[in-house]
Amino acid sequence: MKGNSYHFRKIHSLLGVIPVGFFLVEHLITNYSAYNEGHQAFIDNVKWLNSLPLILVIEALFIWLPLLYHGVYGLYVAYTARNNVKNYGYFRNLMFTLQRVTGVLTFLFISWHVFETRIQVALGNVTHEELGVKMHDIFTQPIPFALYAIGVIAASFHFSNGMWSFLVSWGITIGPRAQRISGYVWLGVFVVMAVMFVLTMVAFTGSEFQDTSTIVTKG
Ligand code: HEM
Repeated sequence: MKGNSYHFRKIHSLLGVIPVGFFLVEHLITNYSAYNEGHQAFIDNVKWLNSLPLILVIEALFIWLPLLYHGVYGLYVAYTARNNVKNYGYFRNLMFTLQRVTGVLTFLFISWHVFETRIQVALGNVTHEELGVKMHDIFTQPIPFALYAIGVIAASFHFSNGMWSFLVSWGITIGPRAQRISGYVWLGVFVVMAVMFVLTMVAFTGSEFQDTSTIVTKG
């Protein structure tokens, strides 16, 4: 039983990086095009991704299934974990607790976010061209904006601090010096990622996202 749980943990850890972490970085870059290039570029990116051959298979294998396993098993770990207050210092214990808290917040956020975006597209309630307007409608309301800000900051922290732990548990950053440097690197990644997500949200509140009249439909 113990051996099994070791392997489940290792799969959970690996899936958090490949492909879930990769997806998060790709998603950040695609959405950020709304900030630095505007409505047309965002829609072009969304349409390009969705025009890839076998997109449903790619989504299922590289996003939904790994995310579901990482999320559900992560919730199980969060509820069964014992805090190692005596073994580690105050800072590491705080990071350990924050990793679990942000995991739960990110899980709730993704469930709500995917329901509002991908599931609405699947149900035929919104088209890919209308996704920019959909995001505009969400971000121009103060409460959804605040909840999204909490969600994207939690996800950025969970990813960055998770990467720090991943490098330790897979034996890549071994000594205290390597772990300290890695700590600064991932702190930087967390800040850049959180700022880019929030700037993207602010970009969607702009008037060019109010309707699709400026969008040129290609193909
Ligand atoms: C500024 C912040 C964000 C914006 C504007 C945004 C926007 C979108 C949009 C428009 C879609 C639908 C894509 C499509 O159907 O083609 C989507 C899907 C999705 N988003 Fe986000 N997102 C944001 C942050 C996040 C974060 C932080 C996460 C993860 C923690 C996340 C996870 C997902 C997932 C899992 C999907 C479904 C992917 C798929 O099946 O293609 N999003 N998002």
